[in-house]
Amino acid sequence: MKQMLNIALPKGRLGEKVYAMFEKAGFPCPSIKETNRKLIFENEEVGVRYFWVKPSDVAIYVERGAADVGVAGKDILLEYEPDVYELLDLGVGVCRMAVAAREGFRDDGARTLKVATKFSRIAKAHYASLGRDIDVIHLNGSIELAPILGLSDVIVDIVETGTTLKENHLEVVETVLPISARLIANKSGFKFKSERIEQIVRGLSMQTEEQA
Ligand code: PRP
Repeated sequence: MKQMLNIALPKGRLGEKVYAMFEKAGFPCPSIKETNRKLIFENEEVGVRYFWVKPSDVAIYVERGAADVGVAGKDILLEYEPDVYELLDLGVGVCRMAVAAREGFRDDGARTLKVATKFSRIAKAHYASLGRDIDVIHLNGSIELAPILGLSDVIVDIVETGTTLKENHLEVVETVLPISARLIANKSGFKFKSERIEQIVRGLSMQTEEQA
């Protein structure tokens, strides 16, 4: 029997796109397309086991070796700094980390800036690089509410299409970082299964070149 490679994919639209890339790279698992609530899918012939994970948890599975490889956003890698190898920029899930505020807001620098975010480490690093004092308000979602209700002056959050900001009368003040999905690997798994993981990297990187 083939050695199984455990692959953690982010649940949702991005994960489906990424699975299609793995399939094209030569690691198919047809049962994953069955519409049910199952979370684990195997193809013993090819030696792959995929599982759907909450996107922000993929790096935890990979860091602790429950998955050999996985796909995680650069935002998560920068925020949590998991001890994993980052092998490839997949060129999908492209968005940016940005500072946003109510339309017309100007930071006059007079007092500590109140920053609401799910990405406290990224926000702190960004403002530290500017030498600006901030008070971080850590939230877990619907960050856009904070400046509307006066909980914060600005937010640091993911902007993809910009629709969420627009519909809430917020606007981008500045871009902090470009973000995209990355292939990551467990450090010891990479040693023991290097040949197969490198095969994945080759198969996926061919597709990112096609996209570019
Ligand atoms: C993300 C982000 C923004 C939105 C940006 O939210 O936090 O709210 O997507 O996308 P847009 O620019 O295309 O509108 P997510 O759906 O992950 O939910 P949450 O942050 O509220 O949990």
